[in-house]
Amino acid sequence: MTTMMPLTCQRHLFDIPQDIAYFDCATMSPLLLGAHAASCDGQRRELHPWSIRPDDWFADGEAVRSAASRLVSSSPDDIALIPGASYGVAIAAANVPVAKGQEILILAGQHTANAYSWHRVARDTGATVREVHRSKCIDWTTAVLEAISPATALAALPHVHSTDGSPLDLVAIALALRARGAALIVDATHSLGAREFDVRAIQPDFMVAGGYKWLLGPYGTGLMYVAPAYHAGKSIEEPGLNRLGSENFEGNLTLSGAYRPGARRYDVASKGNFGLMTGLRFALEQLERWTIASVERSLVSMTKQISDRLQELPLIGIEQIHAQSHYVGAKISEHRRKDLTESLARAGVHASIRGEWLRVTPHVYNSQRDIDRLIGVLADNAH
Ligand SMILES: Cc1ncc(COP(=O)(O)O)c(C=O)c1O
Repeated sequence: MTTMMPLTCQRHLFDIPQDIAYFDCATMSPLLLGAHAASCDGQRRELHPWSIRPDDWFADGEAVRSAASRLVSSSPDDIALIPGASYGVAIAAANVPVAKGQEILILAGQHTANAYSWHRVARDTGATVREVHRSKCIDWTTAVLEAISPATALAALPHVHSTDGSPLDLVAIALALRARGAALIVDATHSLGAREFDVRAIQPDFMVAGGYKWLLGPYGTGLMYVAPAYHAGKSIEEPGLNRLGSENFEGNLTLSGAYRPGARRYDVASKGNFGLMTGLRFALEQLERWTIASVERSLVSMTKQISDRLQELPLIGIEQIHAQSHYVGAKISEHRRKDLTESLARAGVHASIRGEWLRVTPHVYNSQRDIDRLIGVLADNAH
């Protein structure tokens, strides 16, 4: 298999009944059967704690760190283990300098995980959160580039907007921010695993991602990239396991000042969590076996077909369709939005609505039959 080949349908690796057509990876991916088995095996270890050795508390986390670093082309030292996106954003908010009068840029309607912490920073410092709006004539990238000014302290942005999947050109945005001495904090929860994310090209200050969407891992896991400039920063908890020598449980009574290297100081407490880390490790290694390029190719062919067929449908109430590589966003008029996801779900078809957008987000478990059902059920709902 070359890295650019689309994958054949991978439904056999998931537990999805034949009568379910699931197009809502944007809310939560079905867990991989292998990740579930790995999580169960991991948690089973807690039945017999006498067989757990000190190094075991670190092993899966370190394997996750390595797999995550390969995913984003960083060093393992740049990766911290976090339980969710907003936890990582809180760490960024504790470390990126923001002064009174400065501006923090976010997108209108972006997910709150990369917004609430910045509102708190603004309240605490006298800075302002400025919402960037997109119009019919300008895309998100242009809107952000136009909003960057000498007052910008940082931009807290997604890689793709979570309502309709519209991508941002983070390389161009990061370049413009760096030219002003401003930081970039990315929430890649809605793209990591489905699109390439190369920290060498983008050079974000922080990147966070929840593990339970396109990363196919368990809920309660996440990853954070931390640029080396922040490796000596402030952690928001002080878990003992993040200190050098903490694997020596017997001699661990004296406080040691030194952290483990790199971004490990930011790892969440209880990172040894056997049930979660084992599942995330399996999922990341599965993605690596597939390759992100092949996953992306597979999703592009599905989203293209879905959007082409939606364009042809005489659907009343669809105002716009945005097809992205792993996302189809269909803007639905208000009267059609009401009850739409419920009536789809009654027919076994699952998608979600955020704001004005119906989000159709397939993954490698979707089949041609699923796509035909989705289009068929939407057609039935057209009148
Ligand atoms: C873009 C985005 N970021 C983050 C999250 C989840 O945030 P957290 O992991 O902090 O619960 C979601 C959940 O839907 C999301 O859509």
